[in-house]
Amino acid sequence: MLSAVDKARLDALYQNLSENSQHFLGYPCANDLDYENLFRFLQFPINNVGDPFQDSTYRLATREIEQEVVHFFADLFRAPQDDYWGYVTNGGTEGNLYGLYLARELYPNGVVYFSEETHYSVAKNVHFLGLRHIMIRTLENGEIDYEDLKESIKLHRDVPAIIFANIGTTMKEAKDDIRQIQKILDDLVIQQRYIHCDGALCGPFAQFLDPRPAFDFVDGADSVAISGHKFIGSPLPCGVVIAKKRYVDRIGRSIGYIGSMDTTITGSRNAFTPLLLWQAIKQLGKDGLKARLQSCQAVAAYTVDAMNAKGIHAWRNPGALTIVIPKVSEFVKNKWQLATQDDHSHVITMPGVTTAHIDALIADMTKELA
Ligand SMILES: Cc1ncc(COP(=O)(O)O)c(C=O)c1O
Repeated sequence: MLSAVDKARLDALYQNLSENSQHFLGYPCANDLDYENLFRFLQFPINNVGDPFQDSTYRLATREIEQEVVHFFADLFRAPQDDYWGYVTNGGTEGNLYGLYLARELYPNGVVYFSEETHYSVAKNVHFLGLRHIMIRTLENGEIDYEDLKESIKLHRDVPAIIFANIGTTMKEAKDDIRQIQKILDDLVIQQRYIHCDGALCGPFAQFLDPRPAFDFVDGADSVAISGHKFIGSPLPCGVVIAKKRYVDRIGRSIGYIGSMDTTITGSRNAFTPLLLWQAIKQLGKDGLKARLQSCQAVAAYTVDAMNAKGIHAWRNPGALTIVIPKVSEFVKNKWQLATQDDHSHVITMPGVTTAHIDALIADMTKELA
């Protein structure tokens, strides 16, 4: 039993979260969640320890559900049918670490190339793995500078190239074109190469963008990671990583204690988040994901127009849900939870963001301008 004081504390926290969720426009997390029917699974100590595709002595698990999630995303990312593997991660960061881990096992002396607008966790991941890296300049829209990339790789033609590509950068939702990157590697005759795509935000919908960015396995990726709590939406951070199986086979070790292979980064693994993702993809399917994208894009277009009409310089990359605006005041930043870096802030029209939210934000901004 909780004491009255502790209960009141929870009530106050609940109230606070309810209010803040009405002013949540700056982080790329869907805010239209409805997972109540899964609450009953919270009574079990479920854990997907070990490889999702192998039985384990630990049977309080959701591995079959996890497998279906992996199959769905492998299909969405056009992974080679007989050569893919994946698992549900704790988020984009872990999926990115996994891709880089596979790359390092393949090319321990490789150099990792990523753009200066890459998520802050990537430099840390590379440091964990003891890999060398070179940071590449970005173009004005946040996309990697292909000339700078080419010149940098040219100086290191004697070592394998590990490319960490962004399919939606954190601040501007810019997409690096991995076909162009492949061409650079071809031109420089770099045969030992690995391309990881960070699709934290855009991975689940990139296939439906028009024009479609080059980001998946058919385009040349060796692994793709997404966050589950971003576009799809989840109350718990989660993600999915899909990789070529032949690379994963190099790292697995059989562990007697769990009766499975150790192919993932963590030991214990969340068995509840696969249920959340499974329910979302079953309800949405590919058509639903596409429709979800289109309604978010409509709000994004509305945001740019409405802000420009009020004299606020707002822009977005083609098809993006991220609207880049000049740095907002402390008041607006805190009230609307707008991520801000250097002289930019951004608004992200994720599922759950309506034109009414945007109108209220613009009213706050224009009040200050006046
Ligand atoms: C481009 C990009 N990559 C990776 C991440 C990290 O993802 P997660 O927070 O799911 O670990 C983010 C988070 O915002 C991101 O924007």
